[in-house]
Amino acid sequence: MHDTLILFGATGDLAHRYIFLSLAHLIRDGLLPPHFKIVAVARQNYTNETFRSYLAESMTKKAGVDGQSAVIQAMIARTEYVVADLRDAAEIARQLGHLRPLHCVSFLATPPSLFVNIAEGLKAAGLLDAPSRLVLEKPIGRDLASAKEINHAINALVSEDRVYRIDHYLGKAPVQNLLALRFGNTLLEAVWNRQWIKSVDILVAETAGVDGREGYYAQYGALRDMVQNHMLQLLCLIAMEPPGSLEADIVRDEKLKVLRALRPMTAASAAASTARGQYSAGVVSGKSVKGFQLPADTTPTETFVGVRAYIDNWRWADVPFRLATGKRLAERCTQIVVNFRPVSHWIFEKPTQKHATPNRMMIRLQPEETIELNFMSSLSGPEWGALELQPLPLNLSMPLSTNRRIAYERLLLDALHGNPALFVRNDEIEAAWSWIDSIVDAWRTTDAPIYPYAAGSWGPDEAGDLLLYPEAT
Ligand code: BG6
Repeated sequence: MHDTLILFGATGDLAHRYIFLSLAHLIRDGLLPPHFKIVAVARQNYTNETFRSYLAESMTKKAGVDGQSAVIQAMIARTEYVVADLRDAAEIARQLGHLRPLHCVSFLATPPSLFVNIAEGLKAAGLLDAPSRLVLEKPIGRDLASAKEINHAINALVSEDRVYRIDHYLGKAPVQNLLALRFGNTLLEAVWNRQWIKSVDILVAETAGVDGREGYYAQYGALRDMVQNHMLQLLCLIAMEPPGSLEADIVRDEKLKVLRALRPMTAASAAASTARGQYSAGVVSGKSVKGFQLPADTTPTETFVGVRAYIDNWRWADVPFRLATGKRLAERCTQIVVNFRPVSHWIFEKPTQKHATPNRMMIRLQPEETIELNFMSSLSGPEWGALELQPLPLNLSMPLSTNRRIAYERLLLDALHGNPALFVRNDEIEAAWSWIDSIVDAWRTTDAPIYPYAAGSWGPDEAGDLLLYPEAT
């Protein structure tokens, strides 16, 4: 296992909310080597001492934990701080040269525009030589062209098998459970196709707003921020063919086939199958909140998006996959609903066929982890004249784990161990961008409207059946 993590972007939001906390948990649980060390790199002028006290304070504010607690202090004690201008490869090489030849993992929790500069600095310092590894946080680029440029430049410095691209949804335990559910059971595979499945709905609803990330959001919007990565990864796990093994590249090959089979959006299909919105002021969880504040001189962008996607292959031909995500929606909820086709021949009087509820599998990933299968069943007794069927939810949920881990804990551990299975390969990223670009192009040519929706609602009414409500499922 590698014993040094070099964290770039060490003063950033992601680092202070999740990465340092995840590292503290791994140290607490004895999952890292005894001499494990964190090298925090950023531009700000801190010394080791001043950075450590700033980190403790900031973790109290951003990660919601006591920065003075023994668990956090044990992590902080292993952290060194290095000042470097991340735009300057030569300076990075100079500042980090003393680390050589540690077996290290460099984690770039920075905007993608800095990836290549930082990697060049690491390369010059000898810190990308095998067996060192490079972890890249999403987003990888902003479209296919920029993603290709980054992948190409990175692969010229470090071989693909040592590049770990993060999509933190893959580090979530219930997301990994999708693989267990699909491929650890015989029952599902038999009906997991267009013959028996009518549609699939994937919803990622957030109550949080863009808060503090307006600049980034104005550049990206919900389509690039959430659909290109998290939602397409969920779609891949639901739609892919059974892989021959869990070996990283074998699973990624299957995901890639799904991404490449996504039907590109055209101007005509985008008008009928996509919708976007932006939240205005409203009330979320009983609190009044402001609308999305677009920074000056930026073009309007969406904080809600709904897309009806099709996967053009034998298994899924013409089965709609509805994807919807938004900020400042009524509830926080991530779920996948698989809607089965109605019974082909109905023999019951009550309810009538029209009122029967087709089978449905609901996999809720957040905030709670539940799996529910909806059957029709009868509660008939001898005193009743006829069978009366009613929906019967079958709860397949696991008992709540007492130790729910942050997605980054699993991903950091895998990167330090050298297990790439839960990371995204360059060609997957590019295939996802290629489909996303088709939507962006269609929006641009049709000048697609961005409808306002009140914070605390489920999105703009104009989105019609692309709005997904947890209650309605
Ligand atoms: C991030 C996005 O990748 O995922 C954020 O940039 C979003 O905008 C977040 O809020 C959602 O992650 P989670 O784990 O809270 O569902």
